[in-house]
Amino acid sequence: MFRKVTSAFAALAFSAAVFAGPAFAADDPIVIKFSHVVAENTPKGQMANKFKDMIKERLDGKVKVEVFPNSQLFGDNKVLEAMLLGDVQLAAPSLSKFERYTKSLQIYDLPFLFKDMAAVERFQQSADGQKLLHATSDRGLIGLGYLHNGLKQLSASEPLRVPQDAAGKKFRIMSSDVLAAQFQAVDAVPLKKPFSEVFTLLQTKAIDGQENTWSNIYSKKFFEVQPYITESNHGVLDYMVVTSKEFWLGLPVDIRNEVKATLDEAIKFGNDVADQKAKADRQRIIDSGRSEVIELTDAERSQWVEVMKPVWKEFEEDIGPDLIDAAYNSNM
Ligand code: LMR
Repeated sequence: MFRKVTSAFAALAFSAAVFAGPAFAADDPIVIKFSHVVAENTPKGQMANKFKDMIKERLDGKVKVEVFPNSQLFGDNKVLEAMLLGDVQLAAPSLSKFERYTKSLQIYDLPFLFKDMAAVERFQQSADGQKLLHATSDRGLIGLGYLHNGLKQLSASEPLRVPQDAAGKKFRIMSSDVLAAQFQAVDAVPLKKPFSEVFTLLQTKAIDGQENTWSNIYSKKFFEVQPYITESNHGVLDYMVVTSKEFWLGLPVDIRNEVKATLDEAIKFGNDVADQKAKADRQRIIDSGRSEVIELTDAERSQWVEVMKPVWKEFEEDIGPDLIDAAYNSNM
């Protein structure tokens, strides 16, 4: 498996040598527009700003990073198309948002697959996990690394303790058929909507609930318009830091290596932020008194697992049973 990954990198390096990428003017800095949808005080927001600062220190005059948070430049439904058109060079969409480009990354949306973030990290760093970073390469998008956010919780207008409590309720989901199936499994109604619309949909009661991480629920103030949050930890919300093949392979080799090394460091920093914010933002929400955090008993949690787990079978053929086994084994 390792050899396969290595040869994938070798193939990329070879195509880099022959690829006629964009020409960069000798005197102008190369501009990397980094577009994302979350607030700046989130793991992704902080990672993007750190990357920008580190590039300024290391490659001033040669490379300039411009960060656009809060869907200012592109929303999550447009950013990958814009990247392929060369209008943005870096993004870190949630792994759930690549479905139009590959089915393999659907693995990350399977409910109750990973028991904690350590298991997610083990899988992502394994040969299988690293190989998935190339899953969109033939569509012109290269994964440069994974960035953590954390496990997802269920927020709603009414308390959700057992699956029947969700029946008939409308939940906003990211653009993923696996997430749609997950909510259909509890007889709820999933609605695919961009992240930028979630607060208003909740506030106007056009939807009843949504699933997200502690840092997104806190930074986008969902907790102010959702009186209940069930600590379900039922799925993972992580990111693939992505660029276009055309841009990446067109960079001068020395610059590309320095940008990649800097990005790796920024990702490590972002992962530490993710770890801290998952705890801190949960506590901030509790302290606000605006939303009650519901902790499930083991018996209640088992009911959610039981009704949602058949979703794995539904997507097994697209994702690959061996890959699902490998991911599941990362829990051990
Ligand atoms: C969402 O749409 O809920 C998330 O993907 C937002 C994000 O980027 O964390």
